[in-house]
Amino acid sequence: MKRVFSGIQPSGELHLGNYLGAIRNWVEMQHSADAFFCVVDLHALTIPKESGEVGAASLRLSQLLMACGLDPHVCTMFVQSHVREHTELAWLMECHVSFGELSRMTQFKDKSAQQKDFISAGLFTYPALQAADILLYDTDEVPVGADQRQHIEITRDIAERFNGRYGETFVLPEAVIPQAGARVMDLQEPTNKMSKSLESPRGTVDLLDPPEVVVKKIKSAETDSDTEVRFDFETKPGVSNLLSILAAATQRDPNEIAGDYEMYGPLKADAADAVVEMLTPIQARFTELEADPAETARLLEFGADKAQEIAAATVKRAKANLGLLAN
Ligand code: TYM
Repeated sequence: MKRVFSGIQPSGELHLGNYLGAIRNWVEMQHSADAFFCVVDLHALTIPKESGEVGAASLRLSQLLMACGLDPHVCTMFVQSHVREHTELAWLMECHVSFGELSRMTQFKDKSAQQKDFISAGLFTYPALQAADILLYDTDEVPVGADQRQHIEITRDIAERFNGRYGETFVLPEAVIPQAGARVMDLQEPTNKMSKSLESPRGTVDLLDPPEVVVKKIKSAETDSDTEVRFDFETKPGVSNLLSILAAATQRDPNEIAGDYEMYGPLKADAADAVVEMLTPIQARFTELEADPAETARLLEFGADKAQEIAAATVKRAKANLGLLAN
């Protein structure tokens, strides 16, 4: 059975991009693969946080992932800091990736530009920790949105370099990026990806937004001045974003859907309805799960124990192949 691993940061609210780009695929893949899904709390520390903020967000995100359909009895779901091997392997990764390679990462360039006062070293070495996350589990496939492609590529480069120097140690992972929903754009600024940052609340649909808020955000999405409905991100980014959201929510092809509409109004109304229909059961389930944090904690502990068994074996193999003095 192939091994699948993916991660998500507990920072900000989960949004439609996270769901359509990644989580929905995770829910499907848990049934056909040996799947590991990780709340990557240590990655969230790369941007300064208040004490307690990341812990609370990790619990909430875990519950929301379960509400989306991840079943901790089917897949392995855990919190990154509960499996100490992530940080241990990250150091070995850091020593096998160059300053030049890390400097070329677009996420670092974007995020460091947004940080005025304090750019942590962790923000720069972030890809080494992500490589450790993936390589620890002998991962074949990494289901992610399109923005993570560069991170999977650098992971492969590090793994190849390590294997080349010290012999076969790591499995080379492949990114799995969905056909529809791989890059959900901001509703107000459709040339930017939808993101968790709080800068554009009207452009981001959160998974827990009440139906009337979802409808309002989608109906007031930025479109262009002519009224032609055509799927073409180059010339019509706003309309194409709505078409791809509707396509992803209804599992159809955006080009085909474009043929059904002659005006923006009905397209927006149908996209809003489809998103509300998709989110309603998730929100109901979240309310139930939220009521029992002790049960969530128990499930996460069970997941971390399962993950650690595999992670420990990988770290041991990496150290042995490196030839560190055995203890
Ligand atoms: P994060 O937490 O930013 O996002 C989680 C997942 O959601 C996808 N995504 C999107 N997909 C489509 N449209 C969007 N607008 C959109 N925004 C986010 C992301 O592609 C991602 O799949 N570095 C990772 C976390 C990570 C990780 C890993 C992922 C850490 N270790 C190991 C995979 C494997 C991140 O910041 O994702």
